[in-house]
Amino acid sequence: MQHTAKIMIDGKTFELPIITGSEGEKAIDISRLRQEIGLVTYDPGFASTANCQSSITFLDGERGILRYRGIPVEQLAEHSRFVETAYLLINGELPTQKELTRFSVLLNDHSLVHEDMRAFFEHFPRSAHPMGILSSMVNALRAFYPEIPERTEEEEINITVTRLLSKVRTMAAMSYKIFRGHKVIYPREDLPYAANFLNMMFDSPVRRYVIDKDLVKALNVFWILHADHEQNCSTAAVRLVGSAKVNLYAAISAGICALWGPLHGGANQAVVEMLGQIHENGGDWAPFIARAKDKNDPFRLMGFGHRVYKTYDPRARIMKKACDKVLGKLTRHDPMLDIARRLEEVALKDPYFIDHHLYPNIDFYSGVLLRAIGIPLNMFTVMFAIGRLPGWISQWKESIEDPNWKIQRPRQIYIGPNERDYVPIEERG
Ligand code: CMC
Repeated sequence: MQHTAKIMIDGKTFELPIITGSEGEKAIDISRLRQEIGLVTYDPGFASTANCQSSITFLDGERGILRYRGIPVEQLAEHSRFVETAYLLINGELPTQKELTRFSVLLNDHSLVHEDMRAFFEHFPRSAHPMGILSSMVNALRAFYPEIPERTEEEEINITVTRLLSKVRTMAAMSYKIFRGHKVIYPREDLPYAANFLNMMFDSPVRRYVIDKDLVKALNVFWILHADHEQNCSTAAVRLVGSAKVNLYAAISAGICALWGPLHGGANQAVVEMLGQIHENGGDWAPFIARAKDKNDPFRLMGFGHRVYKTYDPRARIMKKACDKVLGKLTRHDPMLDIARRLEEVALKDPYFIDHHLYPNIDFYSGVLLRAIGIPLNMFTVMFAIGRLPGWISQWKESIEDPNWKIQRPRQIYIGPNERDYVPIEERG
């Protein structure tokens, strides 16, 4: 039986269909509301609005559940690798061994970046943030790899997806090397995805980089945990920009720009900067907690709170474990981890954080992990972007294949001045 919701306006009752997701979540379908009733809905920040029906990621913020294509993220972090998880997100199923090998071969085949693109990298000012560089370079990929009319649409999409997954990783490492004035290290055919990235970042003609399997595992976990998170700000940006039927490079470039923000992907960098300030303050976290609670102070405790998680972010738990493991193995003492642990302990007991349901999110420990792997601070958000790529791609693919596809065009409630006449400049007070 189709459930409906009733809405009463000026004595008239209208019925709206209720749709139910596969995990039982319910939504009122208001898509015909304006047409039938002449009203729109108002929901700043989309807190109560579902933008699409999706079969990619299930997230329950109250119970702290995150699953990709039905598989709990905890199981993927433990058993899978990033490339396999990317395949799962994009294609809907885990690959067979044959499919995975083929996918890995394709990623290897597309891992080089057009040599002419180096000139682009080299002419960015040294002060440019790597996220700005990355979004520009991803957009520029279309110019270097134009559509070929002989290819079917499906072939074009598949090749673009593979290029993006492979080249973004190469470009990220390349931008780091160029930024440092070092020789660019090319991808190696014999190395898998994450190991290859670490090698491109840290190998040098005068000091060979020794690949550590535990760091490779930690990086795979980091990327798997970031691989998708349903309709977050950057994914919504990819869907929105993609809905205008721009090419996939342009849509992903928009996602990278959205991710750059400190309230989204930029938070991992902001957390480490905040922990650094606490460290410089002699480890005294109390003024930071006080500022976060002060209504008149815009300061927020970075790495805390989430739009959808009202309990501990399941990704943060796995990230914290990965941090402990890597730092334990490196036997390197990082005061940031101590400060993070202490801050978490204090905040979780504080009535302000309890009442506001503020728990550590993925970014709280991810920066400490990236530091342990050796990733420089200004590359943190780029690391998030590489991880989120499969999510963006799968969400974009789903949106363009959606039978209910429409260009996205929200409404507004106009609150500006009513009609008035143009005043010539000499008559304006
Ligand atoms: N520190 C102090 N107070 C906070 C914080 C925080 N980190 N986060 C939210 N609050 C308070 C906020 O002041 C507000 O209080 P009140 O109701 O008394 O005015 C209340 O909690 C609700 O905040 P909101 O801004 O309406 O919540 P939101 O769902 O719009 O924002 C958020 C979510 C993630 C932007 C926010 O929690 C925040 O700014 N956190 C810090 C930045 C951060 O860690 N971002 C990474 C998010 S996880 C990575 C990702 O998925 O992108």
